[in-house]
Amino acid sequence: MSPPIPVASLTPFEARIEAATLREQVARWDTAYHADDAPEVDDATYDAARRRLVAIEQRFPDLGGAASPTRKVGAAAAEGFGKIRHAVPMLSLDNAFTDDDVGEFESRIRRFLALPPDQPIAFVAEPKIDGLSISLRYEDGCFRQAATRGDGAEGEDVTANVRTLIARGKLPERIVDAPQVLEVRGEIYMTKADFLDLNRRQEEAGDKPFANPRNAAAGSLRQLDPAITAARPLSVFVYALGDCSGDIAPCHSEFLRRLRDWGFPVSERVETVDGVAASSTDGLLAVYGRLGRDRAGLDYDIDGVVYKVDRFDWQQRLGFVSRSPRWAIAHKFPAEQATTRLDAIEIQVGRTGVLTPVAHLQPVNVGGVVVSRASLHNEDEIVRKDVRVGDTVVIQRAGDVIPQVVAVVPDRRPSDSLPFIFPDLCPVCGAHAIRAEGEVAKRCSGGLSCKAQVKERLRHFVGRTAFDIEGLGDENIDFLVEGGWIGGPADIFTLEARNAASLTPLKNFKGWGDRKVVKLFAAIAARRTIALERLIFALGIRQVGEATAKRLARHYVGFARWRAAMAEAVAGENEAYHELVSIEDIGPSVAGDILAFFAEDHNLTALDDLAAHLSVTDAAAVVAGDSPVAGKAVVFTGELTAMTRAEAKARAESLGAKVVGSVSRKTDYVVAGPGAGSKLAEAQKLGVAVLSEQDWLTLTGGE
Ligand code: IVH
Repeated sequence: MSPPIPVASLTPFEARIEAATLREQVARWDTAYHADDAPEVDDATYDAARRRLVAIEQRFPDLGGAASPTRKVGAAAAEGFGKIRHAVPMLSLDNAFTDDDVGEFESRIRRFLALPPDQPIAFVAEPKIDGLSISLRYEDGCFRQAATRGDGAEGEDVTANVRTLIARGKLPERIVDAPQVLEVRGEIYMTKADFLDLNRRQEEAGDKPFANPRNAAAGSLRQLDPAITAARPLSVFVYALGDCSGDIAPCHSEFLRRLRDWGFPVSERVETVDGVAASSTDGLLAVYGRLGRDRAGLDYDIDGVVYKVDRFDWQQRLGFVSRSPRWAIAHKFPAEQATTRLDAIEIQVGRTGVLTPVAHLQPVNVGGVVVSRASLHNEDEIVRKDVRVGDTVVIQRAGDVIPQVVAVVPDRRPSDSLPFIFPDLCPVCGAHAIRAEGEVAKRCSGGLSCKAQVKERLRHFVGRTAFDIEGLGDENIDFLVEGGWIGGPADIFTLEARNAASLTPLKNFKGWGDRKVVKLFAAIAARRTIALERLIFALGIRQVGEATAKRLARHYVGFARWRAAMAEAVAGENEAYHELVSIEDIGPSVAGDILAFFAEDHNLTALDDLAAHLSVTDAAAVVAGDSPVAGKAVVFTGELTAMTRAEAKARAESLGAKVVGSVSRKTDYVVAGPGAGSKLAEAQKLGVAVLSEQDWLTLTGGE
């Protein structure tokens, strides 16, 4: 065979022909490898073809196309689905559990929008469908793309699978008079009848039955082969708007009407609750009562009721806090309970060394879900409830949380049972388990010499909302830690070089084929560039969750500045410390945990070792957009008239500004309304720019 023409010498025509052939070939080999587990060619042939296709697509970018298998690069291909970045993030909902929570939700909205007490608020109340969320993108009135929620920012491309729902008439393929771009969001689910039917077929075919309709729906949608999805009875309800290029409706209820007109399925149990002057809460609770009563009779699982502010302009003003909208809440139904036998109590060791007791149970169905494990929380809870191995226990499941043991059934206790003795030693490394004064948790004192802690920290570090490294799942982390390949985060980034130099490289081990190793290294390499907020979150500092990590990142903007400020703040109550506790939601307790991390030399060494392998993206660059206030520190003082303080703050933060409480040299703007006092004086003294509320609105494009 003659050697191939160098890519640089291909004519556009030759390139087009060859790219099409290669694409078809690579896609077929991908399917054979991933979906059928039956590779058609050896790794070298596959890699050569793929590399050539990438090279051609790079030289002739027009040939790429969204459908090219090269779009499913490395990590993504490991899971088999391409990734889609959501044009508008897919967020979750805050929960309400009591009637008071619902009243408080309405009051918060009233306060935020500064509505007079007699102004009614109309809401839409909808069943909260227990399925998996989906984003459906229509362009020029045609269905184009479907993505799962994923981590909210990026989901999996399940377009081919959703087309099977279109083919079955469950969703429209075309919609008329629609905006050029319209993203409709909803929930894929399986009806209870279809679920029972499917499980019957699964069992007949000798396959494992699904635990509940939700799992069945998820398992069916996430099939690499759309033919399998097509054979599964999935259904869908739509309930929200994502990206949209035009004005579509003034309010949510109107939007749902349009969706129905276009042929989208909208739950028949959606109700509009027109506010009465004093409050809408009673009306919302009435819907909750009705749906709760009818829940068992519905043909689909619901786990609560979602209340949404009807007016879109108000939704817009209310905006989001962290990952949930202020204009909607999910009112959950009470937890479902069941009794079963507790067979054993296992002690698990977490990321920070906390020993957590976990109950192993005789599997039992709790409200449609088979449960075999439940949390026992901590030593005190076991003593308080006097939970013993062999007991019959009451367990409950609420939403997505881990099922819990709520009580023991005393008269079903075996006569020979003994109280459970919580261990004094770590069950993994044998170090002493210590309970600090005032704490409920017993912790392993082994620190990084405890394999369980090392593994849990690594799991957190590579998790979806942290470094998101695919190919480093639980089993692989176990293997790499046990085998001495990885002991801490920095080792992940030196793994490839050490592997190359090793006499027994990874590919020689069972379960580590060449392709798998190459993919893992590609996934790791892709994360050498990381956003500051992800890095901060990944460190696993106590009390520093995603929202706090984001606040820290936005405030300090760059890694070097954050690192230096924290090192300075460790020294005592200096300016750096005051700056840290001036950040919203960071009080002395959270600051204490952050600084406890920075006070440990080994943490600093680990952090610096890690940072040496990374290029950390500044937070402002991520959030700023092109707002002139991005990255600026702003203080609001005095009375505001056009919006409430909370609204002003939320808007400023959404534009990438940092809202701080006190004026210092580092403040960029002080927005002063009538009645401003000492902060205004301080700003004038320090020469900080002072803006009126109107100036601020002009600057931020608000008016
Ligand atoms: S609205 C911006 N409406 O519940 C928030 N969500 O716990 C948009 N869900 O991720 C969501 N039924 O998957 C909305 N009628 C409904 C829903 C619903 C179920 C799911 C959805 C969301 C999750 C939040």
